[in-house]
Amino acid sequence: MEKVLIVDDAELNRELLCDILKGDYAVETASDGEEALGKLKKYEKETAAILLDLRMPKIDGFTVIAKMRQNGWLKHIPVLIISSEHAVEIEAHCFELGVSDFIHKPFESSIVKKRVKNAIELFACKNQLEQTVEEQALTLKKQYQIIQIQAEKLREAKPFNLLMMEYRSAISEVETKLKVLNEEFSQEYNRNPFESIKSRLKSPQSIYEKLERKGFPVTVESIRENLADVAGLRVICSFPDDIYRLAELFCQQDDIVLIRRKDYIHNPKPNGYRSLHLILDVPIFLSGGKKYMKVEVQFRTIAMDFWASLEHKLKYKKDVKDTDEIVEQLKSCADSIERLDYQMQEIRNKIDRSSFLSCLRQEDPA
Ligand code: GTP
Ligand code: MG
Repeated sequence: MEKVLIVDDAELNRELLCDILKGDYAVETASDGEEALGKLKKYEKETAAILLDLRMPKIDGFTVIAKMRQNGWLKHIPVLIISSEHAVEIEAHCFELGVSDFIHKPFESSIVKKRVKNAIELFACKNQLEQTVEEQALTLKKQYQIIQIQAEKLREAKPFNLLMMEYRSAISEVETKLKVLNEEFSQEYNRNPFESIKSRLKSPQSIYEKLERKGFPVTVESIRENLADVAGLRVICSFPDDIYRLAELFCQQDDIVLIRRKDYIHNPKPNGYRSLHLILDVPIFLSGGKKYMKVEVQFRTIAMDFWASLEHKLKYKKDVKDTDEIVEQLKSCADSIERLDYQMQEIRNKIDRSSFLSCLRQEDPA
């Protein structure tokens, strides 16, 4: 049951009003302003209305209203003044202070009940409405914040997109350089040093994950400084010595800067992985001038590429059974591939030598 607080120093008034209201509400009483404020503090949440006398000892009704306003209670608890024969100005002043209604003497039971009920219902509606407005304002604020964050991201996205464009350009530069070498080899020596080139730009998600994992800030500058594999190329060669030849010729070009060289062919990883990795600084030419971009180029044989893609699957598939056995089989395959690669290279060399000799014989009939 909702509480109604009756505040009046006249005991008779308290009793009369209590009798009228006790059927509908849990009635609390106070004989002065101080006691009223104490009860309001205690029952703030449960109090549905307060019936308040103005003239009381210690703290009068006006001070109670002022305190209620100060504490924010006046917003959600309606105040009905128990009036004797107040002058019109006093009533007007009370309304100005935020009072909801008046209960005049002599107390007429049905009218008192109706006025109290009306005041409570009106406040319930008002409170509900205010709560809805508050909730909507909060939702709007949140939506506004989301929009602001998205706008911020969008602003950030431009430099990010520019950076990606620069990495794409660096990939194209490397691809072109490699294709030129390939072309030259096929003209000069009638053979191609590589079979194919694959390139990829690291996805924004992978970039983000790698920066987070390594504890680097997630900014455009940080990508440029801390990641070497945003632009990646894989050069697939037929034979191991083509890998070294091509890599050497490539690094000799005077605009290419070799940052790091990892030779996993001479020093294979324990799992059997064999490739030659170069981290390079590659120049790109933009309207504003030359800019160096980091590019990772991996060189490996056809057979090793086949091996690496199968091995890669094992790393990213979490539900694979008999992993130890598979790891062992992969290692053994990698070792077989190495033998096979060198055997094939040997055969090619033999073929090359014999065709070279037959050429010589044809040139020198004596
Ligand atoms: P990341 O942080 O993964 O780039 O490694 P890293 O900076 O230590 O360089 P590393 O040269 O070891 O590896 C660079 C890339 O080579 C990897 O992202 C893979 O694409 C490839 N790679 C290296 N090791 C393996 C391997 O054991 N198996 C396979 N399938 N690929 C590998
Ligand atoms: Mg990498």
